[in-house]
Amino acid sequence: MDWIKIFNTRDEAAAALNHNPRLLIVRGKRICLALFGEKLFAVQDKCTHNGESLSKGTLNYCGEIVCPLHHYQFDLKTGRESTQRSNDLECFPIQENEDGIFIGV
Ligand code: FES
Repeated sequence: MDWIKIFNTRDEAAAALNHNPRLLIVRGKRICLALFGEKLFAVQDKCTHNGESLSKGTLNYCGEIVCPLHHYQFDLKTGRESTQRSNDLECFPIQENEDGIFIGV
């Protein structure tokens, strides 16, 4: 696994995300980045139901990304759809240290 720097600081991440999910493309992978509470999460951008871009979706109060097309809800921590109607999302690890914030791909 390679660790790719995506932000210099937590404040930079918060400003970039501004409570909305955002598309990140790393090494050809489309990844949905989201900040929930104080924590940054990264899951595959492609909805496992019918392929919509989850970074166009919204976050709910449970820490789920809600797909904009049919409103399936995926847990940002586990990638699991709330009622298991479709496959889990791939989740990517995030690491933070004094050098910045990194995603593992
Ligand atoms: S494409 Fe995401 S819920 Fe249908």
